[in-house]
Amino acid sequence: MARGRFITFEGIDGAGKTTHLAWFRDQLAEKVAPTGRTVVMTREPGGTPLGESIRDLVLHQPMDLETEALLMFAARREHLAKVIEPALARGDWVLSDRFSDATFAYQGGGRGLPRDKLETLERWVQGGFQPDLTVLFDLPPDTASERRGAAREPDRFESESDAFFKRTRTEYLRRAEEAPYRFAIVDSSQGIDAIRAKLEQVIATL
Ligand code: TYD
Repeated sequence: MARGRFITFEGIDGAGKTTHLAWFRDQLAEKVAPTGRTVVMTREPGGTPLGESIRDLVLHQPMDLETEALLMFAARREHLAKVIEPALARGDWVLSDRFSDATFAYQGGGRGLPRDKLETLERWVQGGFQPDLTVLFDLPPDTASERRGAAREPDRFESESDAFFKRTRTEYLRRAEEAPYRFAIVDSSQGIDAIRAKLEQVIATL
């Protein structure tokens, strides 16, 4: 069977990607089922037992910025080796809630880690591997922060300022501009029906 495809969901916290993920997975699964393939849904940081332990650390434990970036890529290496690469080799499709664009956006854009350091880690961990498609949920930081609300205790990223999320968003958009063939940008200020219509178009292109 031909190699599967790798799709990632990205966006600042509160931009709404989680709302659409399960629905998107179901739509995709329906489309690929006749070919005998399945859709593997996973997330970063995480996706493996070790990766989930790393997730718990980076979301809650204060740490040096470079340690944070290294842990993101360590979790990613494990994720690629144990989940993503085997699934794609089997012919299955993989849908990941975040991937390397998040490291460039959060640790690079948000926190200011120089891009060349992240590019070095990216080359080491992934070679030239990139998602076939990245759906970027885009929303102004003040609206995203209202949507995040006070529903639960915020983690180390969710508690960041609007200025942090403004830089994070800018880096996401810069990366989308740099690789337009791989990005689909969803305007998250729209209602759920308009967003679903856009996602259906995106699926049709696959
Ligand atoms: P998120 O994906 O928003 O999950 P949840 O909906 O459960 O909060 O949380 C993951 C957080 O990790 C998010 O704030 C972004 C951050 N993150 C990075 O800073 N760098 C990365 O490389 C990745 C994958 C995530």
